[in-house]
Amino acid sequence: MSESNNYSAKIKVILLGESRVGKTCLINAYFGRQFRANTLFTTIPESENKIIEINEKKYLIELFDTAGQEKYRSMNNIFIKGSKVVIFVYDVTEEKTFIELDYWIKTTKEILAKDAIYGIAGNKADLVEEIKIPNEKGKKYAEENGAKFCETSAKEDSKGFQSFLNKLIQEYIETNIDKISNEKNGKKLSSKNNKKKKKCC
Ligand code: GTP
Ligand code: MG
Repeated sequence: MSESNNYSAKIKVILLGESRVGKTCLINAYFGRQFRANTLFTTIPESENKIIEINEKKYLIELFDTAGQEKYRSMNNIFIKGSKVVIFVYDVTEEKTFIELDYWIKTTKEILAKDAIYGIAGNKADLVEEIKIPNEKGKKYAEENGAKFCETSAKEDSKGFQSFLNKLIQEYIETNIDKISNEKNGKKLSSKNNKKKKKCC
């Protein structure tokens, strides 16, 4: 069986936020790809998969990139459904992208179940001279909105973002372990399988 067919649960993760905040670059950083100074606008949400190991079990991470431009926003709602981990991204050098977090958070919380885990990432922290949103402000806002916080840079802190996202995934797994422990390859084991299991143990 190939590794991609051998995992416990599938966990859907999505990045949301204004256009040009760096969502696509952060996803590239997560997958270990090189930073690119020129990127195209994302138009249609797309996902990429990665197997990660947490507490000695393998999980399939389905990571969705989305479009920040206003004209594509309504399409994102379909893709938000079923997400277990959400990261809202803003650009620390652009105040508007921070203010707009209110919209992204409100929209998402209306769609998702209570068990979703939220993170807020202030990106482009490498542009030190241009920072408009101090770290403390981002942190406080995240606390007020029930989200974990990190200030990062897709350009210079790819490891920091990888670790932030993996921690959020781990938190989801650990708080929902009862729900996902009877899944195999992302599918619920049938009650027949569960009954068999009970009999023989
Ligand atoms: P949409 O697809 O339109 O929603 O935008 P996006 O959020 O995916 O932004 P994208 O990742 O395409 O990045 C936009 C621009 O910001 C590009 O020119 C990137 O090179 C730049 N950028 C992204 N992350 C960083 C960063 O951490 N530091 C710096 N200096 N530039 C960054
Ligand atoms: Mg993009």
